[in-house]
Amino acid sequence: MRKKMVAGNWKMNLSSTIAEKFTREIKDKIDTDAVDVVMCVPFVHFNMISEILKDTKIKVGAQNMHYADEGAYTGEISGRMLAAMGVKHVIIGHSERREYFRETDTEVNLKALKALQNNLTPIICIGETSKQRKSGRTFNIIRKQLAFAIDEMSAEDITKVVIAYEPIWAIGTGETATSEQAEEVCALIRKQINTRFGNWSSDNVRILYGGSVTEENAKELFTMPNIDGGLVGGASLKPSFENVVHYDR
Ligand code: 13P
Repeated sequence: MRKKMVAGNWKMNLSSTIAEKFTREIKDKIDTDAVDVVMCVPFVHFNMISEILKDTKIKVGAQNMHYADEGAYTGEISGRMLAAMGVKHVIIGHSERREYFRETDTEVNLKALKALQNNLTPIICIGETSKQRKSGRTFNIIRKQLAFAIDEMSAEDITKVVIAYEPIWAIGTGETATSEQAEEVCALIRKQINTRFGNWSSDNVRILYGGSVTEENAKELFTMPNIDGGLVGGASLKPSFENVVHYDR
C-alpha cells in the first residue's frame, strides 16, 4: 500500500513574521499518520520553520536545488547542503522553474539523480500546457518529460521518487483538472514506470496531482486509484490546508 502524501509549495510567499505565525497556527491542527505531510518553504525560512515543526508530523522540504555539490554557482543551493540541514524532500522541475528559469529536462534529471544520491526524496513535476492539451498532445508530452526526468534511475531509485502531475493550465488558475483527467494521466505515468521497471516499482512509486487543489476537491482527487495525494500551492498558505491534509475526515 502506498502512503498518501500532501506537499505544500509556498513558492516565493510569506515574510518570516507571517510564516512563523501561520506555521504556529497550523502545526497542532495537522495530526495524521495516514498521510506524509511536507511543507516546501523558501530556503531562508528553513531553520525557523524546522524548529517550530520539530515535534510535529509535518516535514520541511525545499523547492529547488542545484545538481552540483558545491562550486561557483552564485545564488544556488546544493542537494548536499539541504541534506546537511536535515531536509528530506525537494521539489524538482516545477513548471515555474522550467518556464521562468529555463530549466531543461536534462537539468531536471541531473537534479533528481543528485537528490537521490543525497538521500533526498525528489518530488519531480511534469505537466502539459493548455495549448498542448487542446491539441491532443498531453500524453506525448508527459511520456517525454517523464522519460527524461527518470533517465539513469534504477528500479529501486524510482520507488524513492515522487512524481507530481501538474497540468500547467491548472496551476494557480482555479481551473482544477477533473478527477478523471488527473487520474488518466497519473495512470499513464504509472504504466510507463511499470513498462520500464516492472510491478514492484510501479506499485510503490507515489504519484501526486497538483493544480488548484483545495479543501473542496482534495477528497475526490486523492481517492482516485492512481493518485497518491497532492502538491498544493495556494491552499498551503491558508489555514484550510489542514482540511486538504485531512481530506478523508
Ligand atoms: P496551486 O495549488 O496554487 O494551483 O499551485 C499548484 C502548484 O504549482 C504546486 O506546486
